[in-house]
Amino acid sequence: MDFYTFIHFFLSCSLSFSLFYLLLSSLITRLTSLVAPTRQCECQICQDFLSRNWTKKFHNISDWYSDLLQKSPTGTIHIHVANNIITANPENVEHMLKTRFHNYPKGKQFSAILGDLLGQGIFNVDGHSWKFQRKLASLELGSVSVRSYAFRVISSEIQTRFIPLIESFSDHERVVDLQDVFRRFAFDTICRFSFGLDPGCLRSSLPESEFASAFDKASRLSAERAMTASPLVWKMKRFFNLGSEKELRSAIRSIDVLAGEVIKQKKEMGTGQIQNDLLSRFMSTISDDDYLRDIVVSFLLAGRDTIASGLTSLFWLLAQNREIVSMIREEAERVMGQSDTGLPTFEQLQKMNYLQAAVYESLRIFPPVQFDSKFASQPDVLPDGSFVKSGTRVTYHPYAMGRMEKIWGSDCLEFKPERWLSDGIFTPVNPFKFSVFQAGNRVCLGKEMAVVEMKLVAVSFIRRFDIELAAPSDQSMLRFSPGLTATVSGGLPVVIQRRRDSEIIENAFVLRK
Ligand code: HEM
Repeated sequence: MDFYTFIHFFLSCSLSFSLFYLLLSSLITRLTSLVAPTRQCECQICQDFLSRNWTKKFHNISDWYSDLLQKSPTGTIHIHVANNIITANPENVEHMLKTRFHNYPKGKQFSAILGDLLGQGIFNVDGHSWKFQRKLASLELGSVSVRSYAFRVISSEIQTRFIPLIESFSDHERVVDLQDVFRRFAFDTICRFSFGLDPGCLRSSLPESEFASAFDKASRLSAERAMTASPLVWKMKRFFNLGSEKELRSAIRSIDVLAGEVIKQKKEMGTGQIQNDLLSRFMSTISDDDYLRDIVVSFLLAGRDTIASGLTSLFWLLAQNREIVSMIREEAERVMGQSDTGLPTFEQLQKMNYLQAAVYESLRIFPPVQFDSKFASQPDVLPDGSFVKSGTRVTYHPYAMGRMEKIWGSDCLEFKPERWLSDGIFTPVNPFKFSVFQAGNRVCLGKEMAVVEMKLVAVSFIRRFDIELAAPSDQSMLRFSPGLTATVSGGLPVVIQRRRDSEIIENAFVLRK
C-alpha cells in the first residue's frame, strides 16, 4: 500500500468510525427514551410540565414552581409524571430533614449521577460513610486553626488579587462580567482552603486553569445526566464511552491526576510542617488516597459555585439598591473608623450586623441551591397530609420558600435587610423556614465560612467602588441556566468606578501605591 492509499484508507476508516459513533449515540438516546417509564397523568400541572407550557409565562422553572406553591393551600405540589413531591412548607421541610431524616436519604438515583465525579465524598453518600466524614469534617471546620486559616486565605485573595483586579477594571470603565470574576475568586479560595493548592484563576491576566476547566466541565456534564429522559441514556453512553460521557470521563481523569499529584506531594512533605488545609488535616486520620481525593473534591463542589452564585445575586441586588449600599458603608465606617483602609478583621466583621442582614436577605431571595431532593425509602405521610410512596422524590424548595407570603409576609419579594434585624442586631430565623443552607442533620458544613466570605468580599468592594449594571434590569428578571447551582445566564455585566464621594478611597489608593 502506498502512502496516499494508506491515508485514504485511514481517513475513510476514521470517518466511518465517527459516523458509527454518532449513529450509535443518537440511537441510544432514542431507544432509551422509548423504554423509559413515562407515567401518565392528565392533571394541569403535569400537562404544563410535559408540554413546557409554563415557559409562556415564566423564565425560570423555579418561578413557575414558586407560583404554584404560593397558590397551593398546603404549600406542596405533586408532579405525578416525574414522581416528585415539591414542598415549600416549613413543617414538611423539618419532617424530611430532621424528624424523619433516616427515611429521606440522598438515594441511589442522586449518588449515581454524581458518583463518577464525587466517588465516596461526603456530598454523595448516606449511612456510615456520611456519618464518619461528617464527624471528621465538623471537627476540623469547627477548630480555631482551620477557621483562622480560612479567614487568612479569603483575606489574602481579596487583598492581593480581587481588589487590584477591580481597580484595573475601574480605570478603564469597561464592561466586566462580575459573575466570571466571582467564579474565579471562589475557585482559588476553595482550592487553597481544601487542598492548599493555588490555581491562580484570579491573577490579573485571568488565565485559563486546566484544573478549573476540568472541574467546570465535570460538574456541568454530571448535572446534565439528571436532565436526560431516563438514566438509561447516560448509562448506555457511559458504557460505550460516547459523546458527553466520553468528555466527562476525560475531565474526571484530569481532576484525578491533579488531585493525585497534590496528595503525593503532601505525603512527601510529611508531617513536619503544620498545615491547615483540609486535605492535610484529613491525612492524619485517613490513609487511602482515593478516599482522600473524594472527600476533598466534594468540598470543591460544595464551596465553589455556591459562593460565586451567592455573590453574583448579592451584587445584582446591591447595584439596584443604593440606599442599602450607603447603610453598609456607614456601618463599616462606624465599626472600622473612617481612616482604616485595610480589610476588616474577623472581630470587626462580626460586628457588622447590617451587612450580615443584607447577605442573608439576598440568599433568601436568590438561594444558590434553588431546590434539593431526597428519595423516600419507606412510605410516609408529611405533616400537611401529603402521602409519600416509597421511592418518591421529595424536594424542598428554598427559592420558592423565599417567595411565600405565609413565611415572609406580603413584602416577601422586596430586598429588605431590616427584616433580619431586631434592635439593630442580626437575628436568625427558624432554619426550616430559611433552608438555604439545608437544615437539620445534614446542614451545610461551610455555612459560617460562606457568610464570612460573602461579607468580606462585599464590604471590601463597597467601601472602594461604585457599581452599575451594564444592562438595565429589574428584580424579577434574573434568568438562570439549568444546573446544580444557580448560575445567571449571560453573567453579570457591570461597569465599575472608583468611589468619588469619600476620602477613604483616595487614602486607600495612595497607601497601596
Ligand atoms: C452561599 C454558599 C453556600 C450555600 C448556599 C450552601 C448550601 C448547601 C446546601 C443546600 C447543602 C445541602 C446539599 C445536599 O445535601 O444536597 C450543603 C451541603 C454542604 N456544604 Fe454548603 N453551601 C455553601 C457554601 C459552602 C462552603 C463554602 C463549603 C465548604 C467549605 C460548603 C460545604 C458543604 C458540605 C461539605 C456539605 C455536605 C454536608 C453533608 O452532606 O453533611 N458549603 N451546602
